[in-house]
Amino acid sequence: MVNSNNKNGVALIGFMGTGKTTVGLELSKKLKRELINVDLYIEDETNMSIAEIFKRHGEGYFRKIESDAIEEIKREIGILIDCGGGVCLKFDNIENLRENNKIILLEASSENIFKRLENDTTRPLLSKNMSIEYINKLLEERKKSYHLAADLIINTDYKTVEEIVEEILENLSFLKKNRSD
Ligand code: S3P
Repeated sequence: MVNSNNKNGVALIGFMGTGKTTVGLELSKKLKRELINVDLYIEDETNMSIAEIFKRHGEGYFRKIESDAIEEIKREIGILIDCGGGVCLKFDNIENLRENNKIILLEASSENIFKRLENDTTRPLLSKNMSIEYINKLLEERKKSYHLAADLIINTDYKTVEEIVEEILENLSFLKKNRSD
């Protein structure tokens, strides 16, 4: 059981295709809590799609506005934050998220990530290199940062969204107080 302290919010982190957005939406419905999707927040702020930002300005620029977005979003209390897969690669972002949130890492095997994203065209980091080998390489590079950030780790392979949400609620008892069922 993860102790809540005064951290009343939840940030979902993890590699692309691990289910953060789907799980975030279901959690938000169940708990009647606001959900901020960091990528959508950035797209709104910049009036560009994530793919366009990468194409026009490069990854470095994206990472900078991603960090700025986290700085702003961290001020919200008691919400759910659906983070892009690279948010926790910067320690400052982790520290910012930690101020008001418990951090949940969603994991999945490279085979399942590949199956989920095979036909996706919105992830610039994978679009030119969509293969299990490349996903494995990125996962390996990122594993340490993800684990360093996580208060709770949940494997999503072969689980339904409902099962994952229940697992989160069982482990973060403070969330159960305002669930809607
Ligand atoms: C990224 C993940 C994406 C998006 C961007 C970079 C990453 O978000 O932020 O394409 O570096 O892993 P999702 O994890 O929601 O796909």
